Amino acid sequence: LREKYIDLIAKAGDEAALEDLRVAAVGKKGEISLKMRELGKMSPEERQVAGPALNALKDEINAALAAKKAALADVALEERLKTEWLDVTLPGRPMRRGTIHPVSQVMEEITAIFADLGFSVAEGPQIDSDWYNFDALNIPSHHPARAEMDTFYMHRAEGDNRPPHVLRTHTSPVQIRHMEAHGAPCRVIAPGRVYRADYDQTHTPMFHQVEGLAIDRDISMANLKWVLEEFVKAYFEVDHVELRFRASHFPFTEPSAEVDIQCSWEGGVLKVGEGDDWLEILGSGMVHPQVLKNSGVNPDEWQGFAFGMGIDRIAMLKYGIPDLRAFFDSDLRWLRHYGFAA
Ligand code: PHE
Repeated sequence: LREKYIDLIAKAGDEAALEDLRVAAVGKKGEISLKMRELGKMSPEERQVAGPALNALKDEINAALAAKKAALADVALEERLKTEWLDVTLPGRPMRRGTIHPVSQVMEEITAIFADLGFSVAEGPQIDSDWYNFDALNIPSHHPARAEMDTFYMHRAEGDNRPPHVLRTHTSPVQIRHMEAHGAPCRVIAPGRVYRADYDQTHTPMFHQVEGLAIDRDISMANLKWVLEEFVKAYFEVDHVELRFRASHFPFTEPSAEVDIQCSWEGGVLKVGEGDDWLEILGSGMVHPQVLKNSGVNPDEWQGFAFGMGIDRIAMLKYGIPDLRAFFDSDLRWLRHYGFAA
């Protein structure tokens, strides 16, 4: 019996055959188990001899089964290792990563710079009523500024008497919404999309502005000048820059100024903070008392400045991009050329 099983176990080709052998030998009805049951019928003398012998045989067969099982597993593993291999020396397949759009990058940069200056971010809807976009900003119905802005009006069905809505033509309506909701004092910027029906090398019907608004009891244009100077130095990474305030007119600020930054164009390359050229970058002024009133802020107690800057434009300036429209063409070759995509 011993030889039979030890031999069969050695020859077993797989785990299933081995399991059959285990059942046949030491399973409940296996040969050895049956023999053990016969021990009861033996005389004490016979049992004393046969009992230990059977136990030893059972142990030996169990050990042989376990050893063979491990050996079979080893063989199986060897087989897998031979067939399922991976060439880790193969070069990887190139994977193109998405990147942040340059305009979004610049927007994040601007937000970070103003955050350092204590400004938080305010938001407003891109479709707004003409009250927020115009009237509240002191631009009544037949004011020429409305025509100048090439406004996109939302279509209203006949009989729909809700107030007219527009695609906001600037981020200034966020001034009103913010003061209405939070009152004074405040210090916010409002970056976002704006729309005007205009299309050429430096205009796209959708573009981006960032509005600035600071209201307190004694904010002056000196504060405006300092904030803008700090911004321009941080954004263009220069230690010094002259700003030029040119008298201008906006219905929602009084006085109003357009702001130019000192620059030079050496061989077509813009250098900010040197030379004697000037580059317009934004419109600004002291918030008109009527605008404060329209927003529920008492102009006898509060005053402050506002400015509005074209984000795409200052992105073009920073990266030397000649055509604004390319920003929105989604042409990967163009984005790669300027290092905006991998
Ligand atoms: N909203 C103005 C524009 O779009 C810019 C501006 C904002 C001017 C705030 C003054 C104050 O041209």
